[in-house]
This record gives sequence, structure tokens and C-alpha cells, in this order.
Amino acid sequence: MPWRKTKDAYAIWVSEVILQQTRVAQGLDYYYRFLQAFPTIQSLADAPLDDVMRVWQGLGYYTRARNMHAAAKQVMSEHGGKIPDTYEKLRSLRGVGDYTASAIGAFAFNIPRPAVDGNVYRIWSRIFGVFTPIDTPNGQKELYQISFEQLDKQRSALFNQAIMDFGGTLCMPKNPLCGDCPVSDVCYAFRNNAIALLPAKSKKIKVTNRYFAYLMIRHKGDTFIRQRDGKDIWHSLYEFPLIETGGSTSLKSLEKTQEWKEMFGNVKPTVLHISPRLKHVLSHQHLYTQFYIIEVKTIPYFLSTNFIKVKADSMGEYPTSRLIDSYMAAEPVEKYFLRHEAGSGQNKRSRRKD
Ligand code: ADE
Repeated sequence: MPWRKTKDAYAIWVSEVILQQTRVAQGLDYYYRFLQAFPTIQSLADAPLDDVMRVWQGLGYYTRARNMHAAAKQVMSEHGGKIPDTYEKLRSLRGVGDYTASAIGAFAFNIPRPAVDGNVYRIWSRIFGVFTPIDTPNGQKELYQISFEQLDKQRSALFNQAIMDFGGTLCMPKNPLCGDCPVSDVCYAFRNNAIALLPAKSKKIKVTNRYFAYLMIRHKGDTFIRQRDGKDIWHSLYEFPLIETGGSTSLKSLEKTQEWKEMFGNVKPTVLHISPRLKHVLSHQHLYTQFYIIEVKTIPYFLSTNFIKVKADSMGEYPTSRLIDSYMAAEPVEKYFLRHEAGSGQNKRSRRKD
């Protein structure tokens, strides 16, 4: 893997943040794309946030990309453009927590600290038979202690990488390859048939169901979007007008919502198509979504004042969620407009094009 072959703290940082987000196979692609777009910390610091978000698009947890961008600026202004080489200074960078500071520290500067993440909890809890739940402060303290004791302090980079690779190739969460494992004879979990029980967790993740209706509202060649803000998912990504409801809805009940009435006012929208219900799974939320393809003859006041008007075919230039991105990739929505226009006999040019 390329991040193993470099001592460039910037490239290592990029790889670590990406690998917190995704598996090695998919991470590789993003790693190359990111470094191609922003080859140095300076180029990242100077880039507009939208460009960073666009490269990050699809990875999820967009706060990480925003934090990296902010941290790059911090490195430029507070550390003379050089990523600092102590744990404490690394830790003070935006978005850099204990794990990332330890990992950058170990891989770039051989700092003797274990980079402890879920993989590492799993490995040591199995080998040492630690049943204290890993989602509690006590469990985390206990496993950090073990990780620190086990770390080969002279060879922190090599040891940390070896542990991560061990977690990725042998000691996986499900169906670990104990038959090939060099430490199975000293592994508590293997010897006591407790692999499925470790690592122990105190609680299940609580999943919230949410119901989204996205309105792809077309006026001539334009559509309407806005940038998300607030504490919710997908901060600073762009999206179509969204009505969130308490449960799954029909068009009839959507039309009765306050948001719909506010959105369209006196303008009568033509609903050309409604997508099937699509389920999009995030770590703590299941989003049940329908896309409504709508045409208006005049632009409703609320839409013009609360949303950005963009050319419909320029949506690809705006960073969006994977949900929107994959819907647009899977569904060529233009066909609904063409059919509608052809049917109404108003747009002869597009009919000829068919
Ligand atoms: N996961 C996080 N960092 C990693 C690394 N350096 N190698 C493999 N998997 C990782």
C-alpha cells in the first residue's frame, strides 16, 4: 500500500483519515484522487472548500473533509507549512484525535504511541480475553494500556502497521482466519471459543428511520438546490429542496404539508414522476427517500428566495450526498421532461431530437 512506502506526513495523514472512513480497496482510489487534486498541504489549504468536498464525495462523514481543510490552514499559519512532529502538536490540529495523531506520529516520525482504533480493540480484547465493553471509558483505558505495553517502542511505525494489517487480514470482525493465525495458541478467544463474544459491547447502535422527499423542481433548463448547514448529516453538501416527513407518505399527503404549500404558494406544480422508495443506510440512520420530478411554469417566490437556481445539467459540479449522486446516475430524469414536453406539443425542438 502506497502509504506504507512514504514518510511524508501529509500523505500519511490523508491516508489515515480516508482509511477511517472506508476499506483499503476503496480507500486507495480516494487516496490517489485526493493527492492528485491536493498534492501538498499548501494546495489543500488554498483550495476552496467545495473542491475538497467534491473529491471527498461518496466517502461520507463530510466533517472529516472540512476538518482536514481547516487543519491544513492551521498547519500553514501556525506551523510554517510543516506538519508538526510531536503527538501534542498533532493532536491540536482540527479533527485530529488521539488515533490520528498517534498514527501520523508513528508512521511519519516513529513516535512510540499505539494508534488505537476499533481494529486494535478487537485484536487485544481477543488475545487477552478483555470482556470490559469497548464502548466504555474503562474498556478503552484497559485496552489502551495493553496496546501501549505490547508496542515495540523502537519500531513504532512497523509495529502499528503490522497490527493494522493483522486486523485487516487475519483477525477480522467476522470469520477471522484463526487457522492461519500465528498467535492462536496464546489467544484467549481462540482457546476459549469466545471469538464471537469479543470485543464486548455494552449497547447496540440505535438506528433512526427518516423519511425524505426530494423535489427536483425544473423550470425551463434550471433546477433548484441549496447547501446544507446545521448539525445534521451532509453539512455543506448541496441538495434539492427537501421535505422531511414523520413516516412514508403519498403525494396526496405530501401536498397537504406546510412545507409543500410554502414551497409552491400559488404556483401549480406538475409532478411528472415519483421514484420508488429508496433506502439509504448510514451508520446511525436509515433514510427512506423518494425523488419527485416536478415541473413549474413560473418560479414560486419561496423557491427563488431560498434556493440557488442552477442549470439542470450542471448538478455534477456541486458536491452532493451519495444518495443524490447515485439516484441521478441511475435515473436519467431528462426523459420525463422530454416526454412531457413532447406530449404537450410545446417543445418541438426536443421532439425532433428524439
Ligand atoms: N487502517 C487505518 N490505517 C491503516 C493503515 N495504515 N494500513 C491499513 N489499514 C489501516
